[in-house]
Amino acid sequence: MTYDETLDDEAAQQAKSILGNRLAAPARDTVERLYGHYFPPVPAFDGWDDDTEAFIRAEDNDREATLTALRPRDDAHGRFLHQTLAEIYPNTFTYRDSPAHETADDGLEVSMFSARVRLEREYLRHWLPFPHVPRYETQEEAADHLEHLAATNPGVDHPLFDYLAAEAPRRHLEKFLRGETIRNEIVDDEVALLTVGLQGTQKAVVAANLWDECGRGRLENFHTFWLRRLIDRSENGWEGFYDYRENHPWFAKITSNTNAMLLSRPAYTQQAYGCFLVFESWVAPHFTHILTAMDRFAIDEADRRIYFAAHVAVDPRHADELADGVRFQRPRLSPAEIHRVLQGAHLAADAGKRQYDLWLDHFRTDKEHTA
Ligand SMILES: [Fe+2]
Ligand SMILES: [Fe+2]
Repeated sequence: MTYDETLDDEAAQQAKSILGNRLAAPARDTVERLYGHYFPPVPAFDGWDDDTEAFIRAEDNDREATLTALRPRDDAHGRFLHQTLAEIYPNTFTYRDSPAHETADDGLEVSMFSARVRLEREYLRHWLPFPHVPRYETQEEAADHLEHLAATNPGVDHPLFDYLAAEAPRRHLEKFLRGETIRNEIVDDEVALLTVGLQGTQKAVVAANLWDECGRGRLENFHTFWLRRLIDRSENGWEGFYDYRENHPWFAKITSNTNAMLLSRPAYTQQAYGCFLVFESWVAPHFTHILTAMDRFAIDEADRRIYFAAHVAVDPRHADELADGVRFQRPRLSPAEIHRVLQGAHLAADAGKRQYDLWLDHFRTDKEHTA
C-alpha cells in the first residue's frame, strides 16, 4: 500500500456513521408511546419542604449550626444530608425537578451550589470519609486490586439480595424494583458526566459504555427504554410510580448521591471512575437474585424482566472493561491518580453496604410489624 492509500484509509475510517444509514422515525407504536413520557420519571419542580428550602437559602454559619445539631443523631443526620442532596442534584443534571429547569435563576443556583458543596463536605468529613486504601505504583497492580475488590466487597453478596430472592413478600420486591428504577434512571447521564476530564483508554471505555446505554443508536435498546417498559407494566403504571417516589426512603439515594458528588467535582474525577467500576461489578449478582425473586412470584413478562436480564448479560463486560481501562490506560496514571481511583472504589463499596443494610433493616422491621 502506498503512503497516499494508507493516508486515505486513515482519513476515511469514520466517514460512515455508526448510527446506520439515516436516522429515521421509530418503527413501532410502543416506542412512540413510551417516549411520550418525560424521563427520568420525575415530576416538574413544585417547591421544597421547609427544612430543605431554609438550608439552601441560609448563610454559612446557619448551615453549620443545622449540621452540627444533627450530627449526634445518626439517622436524622443521614436523612437530612441525603434528602437535601437529592433535592439539589437535579440542578446538576438539568432535570425538570430543578427549580431552574425552565428559567435560569442566578441567585438561587448560586445558593444551591454552595449548599451542595457544604453538604458534600459534611458527607466526606462526618458521614462517610474516603477510606484508607493500599498504595500502588503501577496501573497493573491497581487493576488487579480493583478486580479483587469488585468481586469480594461486602456489597456484592449482601444478605439483602438473598432476602429478596428467597423470603421477601411481593410488596417488598415491588418496592425494591421501584427503588432500583430510581437508582438507575439516570445512569446514562452519569456515564456521560464520567467521560468529562478522563483521557485516552479510560475515556474510550466510558464512551463505549455510554454508547451501550444509548442503545447503540436504537431507541428501543436504550437502557432507560427498558425502565420505561418496566414502569409501564408495573402496578398503576406511571401514576403509581409518581406516587411511590413521594415515599422513596432516604437511604435509597445513598449510592446515587455518592456518584453525583464524585462526578460533579474536578478533584474527584478518578474517584468517580473507581466508584462506577464497583457499581457496575455488583449489578449482575444483584440482578440475578432479583430475577430469582421474580420467578418466585411468576413475574414472567419480558417488559418487567428485560432491564435486569439484559444487565446480567452486559454489566460483567462493562466491569471488566473498566478494570482494563485502568490496566492499559494511556497516558499513564500517576501514583496519586491511581490512589484516587482506589479511594472511589472503596468509598462506593462502603456506601453500597450502608444502603443495603438500611434497606434490609427497613424490610425486616416492616415484616415484624405486619406479621
Ligand atoms: Fe445500563
Ligand atoms: Fe453497564
